[in-house]
Formats: sequence, structure tokens, C-alpha cells
Amino acid sequence: MEQTNACNNLKGRHILLGITGSIAAYKAAMVCRLLKTAGAEVQVVMTALAKEFITPLTMATLSKNPILVEFFDPENGQWNSHVKLGEWADCFLIAPATANTMAKMVGGIADNLLLTSYLSARCPVVVAPAMDLDMYAHPATQQNLRILADRHVGIVEPGDGELASGLVGKGRMAEPDEIVAFVNELFSEKKKSLEGKHFVVTAGATIESIDPVRFISNHSSGKMGYAISEELARRGARVTLVSGRTALDCPPGVDRVDVLSADEMYEATVEAYGRSDGGVMCAAVADYTPLEAADHKLKKSDDDLVIRLRRTRDIAARLGAEKGSRLLVGFALETDHEEVNAESKLHKKHFDFIVLNSLRDAGAGFRGDTNKVALIDDHGREDLPLMSKRDVAVHIVDKMESLL
Ligand code: C5P
Repeated sequence: MEQTNACNNLKGRHILLGITGSIAAYKAAMVCRLLKTAGAEVQVVMTALAKEFITPLTMATLSKNPILVEFFDPENGQWNSHVKLGEWADCFLIAPATANTMAKMVGGIADNLLLTSYLSARCPVVVAPAMDLDMYAHPATQQNLRILADRHVGIVEPGDGELASGLVGKGRMAEPDEIVAFVNELFSEKKKSLEGKHFVVTAGATIESIDPVRFISNHSSGKMGYAISEELARRGARVTLVSGRTALDCPPGVDRVDVLSADEMYEATVEAYGRSDGGVMCAAVADYTPLEAADHKLKKSDDDLVIRLRRTRDIAARLGAEKGSRLLVGFALETDHEEVNAESKLHKKHFDFIVLNSLRDAGAGFRGDTNKVALIDDHGREDLPLMSKRDVAVHIVDKMESLL
């Protein structure tokens, strides 16, 4: 199992290893040993319950450092500074991570040293979940995992197989060598495939004010555009994300420009496009905006209200018109005559390819974490199965790379 020769990015790295109270805690000994063999320095922080599963003596011996559990040492009162630990670590790996600890991470609860260290950590954080299959499959756990992933916590997927309870299913902590390989990959200095490239991505919904209180908008969550921005940045591209309204955090390494209206999005996108290698038009841009936004709250009366709308400017069409050698990717969300409409947009807006979402497919479109799309270009159509928006982003960026 000790195949550390592949883990050559870990030498001299400071790894804070968090251990929580799961039966899989015994595997943390091997995780620690593999990290040490690969040349990392390891400090271990355990929850009180984790000590019931694996002894501090074992972990202290393997890590060659005292184990941290309490906020201060009860023997001599020495303060264990979570802030210092957070600063020291190049990576905080929590293996095993219980459902309880992950829920507390999501909620920002700080009732032990491991959790305060998480809140103080400036470095990448990775969790290796371990629990029974029903706990893992529970919507609460699944939602917590999605929230952690959205906050860019790395997740080493648990395996399928026999669990300590005797049941068989998903929830068994990944094997130590997989976990260490995952951490090793974080420090990989491979030349990134999109280094030196710059893309502009639009995402989210625009907001068209009717008056200071009301607006016209749509259901776009921004998740697809954010996932694409993250994937482009992960491959080394510079990304300007022109974002309408979303509830999402800016992905690491991405420059975000916040806008509200379609007009603001137009200006910001055209500005950034000039010095870019291309764009991905993912935003749900309003096609119409009130002719004038009232400067006071409109009062209701017994009559119906008519609001006159004017057309907004089409950002993608403008970018397509001055495309030059740039790469331009568009999206189409259609409810009928999908392919014909998508193809007409492909040509009208000069997209290199268009990503077709259909609201007819279960699990596709707005708000959800999954999408089912087809990639359409002049040569044909590639239908992708239902998958996470992150995986859709990988396919889209792969296709972009193949066209560069
Ligand atoms: O014409 P339609 O709005 O359906 O085209 C969708 C594509 O055009 C998407 O890529 C969307 O982001 C982009 N678009 C735009 N500016 C607009 C309207 C749509 O960039 N005003």
C-alpha cells in the first residue's frame, strides 16, 4: 500500500491531519504514515471521540508530533492556537470526516479544536467522508457535501463496499493511498493546459429594475457559469467572470465583476472581451427591460398596470460580430424546437459551439446541481448523459481546448 513514489509533491509540505470519531479512524494511521514517507510534516488534531477509535500515542508516534485535541493542554495550560495551526498548514486533510463534523463545518460551529482550525484555515481543505450508507445517502449529508464542494473543500469520494455495520453500500472511507494521492495532486505543478489564456464568462441572472423595490429577473442560479469559470481557472486560464445575481462564492483564482442589469453586463463583458481569447456566454440575460425605472415605489391602484419594456442589447451577438480568432461558446435553453433554435443561435451569434439545455429533461436546467446537455457545432451534436454541473463544465472546457 505504501506507494509514495508517485506522491512527489509532498516533500516539506505541512499537512494538518484532522481525525474525527469514525471506525475508519484506524486508517488515519496509514494516511499519516504515507504522508510522512512522502516527506510531509504532519500535525494531528483529533476530536475527543476520535481518541476512542485510535490512540493519541499511535498518532503522535507516527506523526512525530504531539497530538492536539483540546484548546489548551490540561496538564500545563499551554494554549493550542488554532490560528497558528491554520497558518502553519499547507493543507488541512480531515480523514475520516464524519457526517457530524461536516455538518458543523457547514454551519460554522466551532466547538472543538479541529473545527476552529477549519474556520481559521487559509489553505486548501480536503475531507474523506466515512459513515454508514444511510447516513451518507441522507439528504442532509448530501446537501452538506454539496455546500462544502461549493466552498471549494476537496472531497475524496467514499467507496462502495462492506461497511463496519455489516451493511454493504457507499460510505466506506477511501483507501489511504487514494487520499494521499488526492492531497499530492493539490500541489501538482504540472504545466496547466490553459496557462496564458484569458476567457470572459457571463453567469447568473440579470436584474431589471421596475422601481427601487421591484425588478424583473429569472430563475438562473449561476451554477453552470461558475463551474465553467472554476474549471477554466483550474487549468491555468485567467478568467473574468461577469456575474449577475447569484448566491455563489467566487471560485478561487477567478476575477469576478458584479453587475445587475443586462446593460451593465453588456458594458463589463465587452470591456473584458477586447483583451481576451474568448468568451462563454452562460448568463440568463433579460431580453427586455422597463423603458424607465421609476425613482419611487409605484403605488397600487384599482387599475391594471402596464409597464413598457424595451429590448436589451444582445451581448453574445456583439461579441460574435467582433470575434476574430477568439473562441465563443453560447448556451441555449429551449422549451420547444430545441435543435432548430439552438442551431439558428449558433450561426446568428457566431458561436463555435452551443450548449443546449432542455427544460424537458428531468434534472436539467435552473438551480439544480445536475444538468443534461447537448454540445452542438457545425459538425453535429454530442449528447451528454445527466451529470453534475461540475462534470458538464469539464466536458465543455475539454471541447474548448480541442478547438483552440
Ligand atoms: O437568444 P437567446 O437569449 O436564447 O441566446 C442565448 C445565448 O445568448 C446565451 O449564451 C446567452 O448568455 C446569450 N445572450 C446574451 N445577451 C443577451 C441575450 C442572450 O449574451 N442579451
